[in-house]
Amino acid sequence: MNILITGAAGFIGSHLARNLIWRGDNVIGLDNFNDYYPRKCKEFNVDLVHLSANQGSKIFPQEELGPVYDKLLSYNNKTTQNTPQSTPGTFHFHEADITNLDQLKEIFQNHKIDAIIHLAAMAGVPMSTKNPLLYTKVNVQGTTNLLTLTTDKQKENKNPIKFLFASSSSVYGHREKENFFVTEQDDITKARSVYGATKVAGEVLCHSFHTSFNLKVANIRIFGPIYGPLQRPFGMLHQRAINYTHNNKTLQIYGRDGLKTAKDATYIEDEVKGIIQILDSDFNYEIYNIGTQNPLPIKHWLECIKKAFEKQDSLNPKELKIEIVEADKADVASSADISKAKKLLNYEPTTSMQEGINRQVEVFNLMPKWYKEMQDV
Ligand SMILES: NC(=O)c1ccc[n+]([C@@H]2O[C@H](COP(=O)([O-])OP(=O)(O)OC[C@H]3O[C@@H](n4cnc5c(N)ncnc54)[C@H](O)[C@@H]3O)[C@@H](O)[C@H]2O)c1
Repeated sequence: MNILITGAAGFIGSHLARNLIWRGDNVIGLDNFNDYYPRKCKEFNVDLVHLSANQGSKIFPQEELGPVYDKLLSYNNKTTQNTPQSTPGTFHFHEADITNLDQLKEIFQNHKIDAIIHLAAMAGVPMSTKNPLLYTKVNVQGTTNLLTLTTDKQKENKNPIKFLFASSSSVYGHREKENFFVTEQDDITKARSVYGATKVAGEVLCHSFHTSFNLKVANIRIFGPIYGPLQRPFGMLHQRAINYTHNNKTLQIYGRDGLKTAKDATYIEDEVKGIIQILDSDFNYEIYNIGTQNPLPIKHWLECIKKAFEKQDSLNPKELKIEIVEADKADVASSADISKAKKLLNYEPTTSMQEGINRQVEVFNLMPKWYKEMQDV
C-alpha cells in the first residue's frame, strides 16, 4: 500500500511510519517541523524512519541513531510483530504545511496514494487555551485541505482512498467515576478544551466528506497520553517526569485528583497496532476508541518510572520531587471502552505500563546529551 502520513516527524507518526515500512508498505511522510517542541527531536525521528527504509541516516551520525534504532526494533518484534521484510517499503519525506494548499497539491500530484493517516495537528490541551486561532487553523482548516485534495484525487483516479483521522479522547469531555468508560456512541458535544473542540470539528468534517463524496473514513479516538520511547517531549507527564528525575527538577502535577488522577495511558506500539488494524480493515465509515480500558493513577506511573531508573546503572535514580498544583480547567479524564475494536479488529493492548516505561527510560538513556538535558519539556 502507498500511505501518506501527515505529522510523520512527530511521535506517533514516526513510530507508525517505521512499522509500515518494516512490513513492506511505501510511506510518504509530510511534516512542517513546527516549533511546539524542538525541530532536532523531529529530525531524529525522521532519520530513524530513513533507517527502516534502508536509506541511511541523513542528519545524525550512525553511532547516535544505531543503538536507538536497534532497541526500537527489538521492542517492536515483541509487540506489533511487524518484523522487517527482506525488502522494506520506501520512504519519501516532504517538509510541508497542511495549511498551505499549494504545498499539499504538489505532494498529491507526485505520489500514488491508497490511504492517508492524518496525524498532523497542534496537539496538547493547555497550549490550545493560549492559542485557539492557531489550533483551529491547523486542526480544522488543515484537515479540510487534506479532505478536499483526497476526494479530488479519488475522483480523478477513480480509486478509493482510505482516510484515517487521528481524533482524541478529549472529544468526550470530562467523565466522573460513575460514567468513566466511554463508548463510540457517546455524546461528543461537551469537549472542555479548544483542542478537544477542534478534534470534534475534524471528525464531523470527515463524516461530511464521507456522506458527500463517498470517502472511506475512520475516526480514531486515541486515548492518551500515549507514552513510550521518544514520547512527544513537551507537555507529557511521563517524559517530563523522566527528564525531571534525570535533571533533578521539581515536577508540577495538576490532575484534578492529584496523584490519584487516573487516565487511560496507552503504550505507543499498542496504539500503532490498533491504527494499523484499522488501516487493514474494510470500512466505509467507522469510529474506534483505541486505548487500554485500564485507567491507572498517576502515582503508579511515577512508581514505574522510579523502578525503571533503578534498572539503569548509568542513570542517576534521584528521588523525583513533586508539587501538586491547581488543575487546569480544560484537563479531562475518561477511559476507553474498547469492546468494538476488540470485536471487529481483534485489537488487544498487551504492554504493561511497567514494561512500556522501562522501554521509554532505556531509550532515554541511549539518547544524546542534548536530548537528556532538554529544557521546556
Ligand atoms: N500523543 C497523544 O497522547 C495523543 C492523544 C490523542 C490524540 N493524539 C493525536 O495524535 C496525533 C499525533 O500526536 P503526537 O503525539 O505524535 O504529536 P506530535 O506533536 O509529536 O506530532 C504531530 C506532528 O504534526 C506536525 N504538524 C503540526 N502542525 C502541522 C502543520 N500545520 N503541517 C504539517 N505538520 C504539522 C508537527 O510538527 C508534529 O511533528 C495528533 O493529531 C494528536 O492530536 C495524540
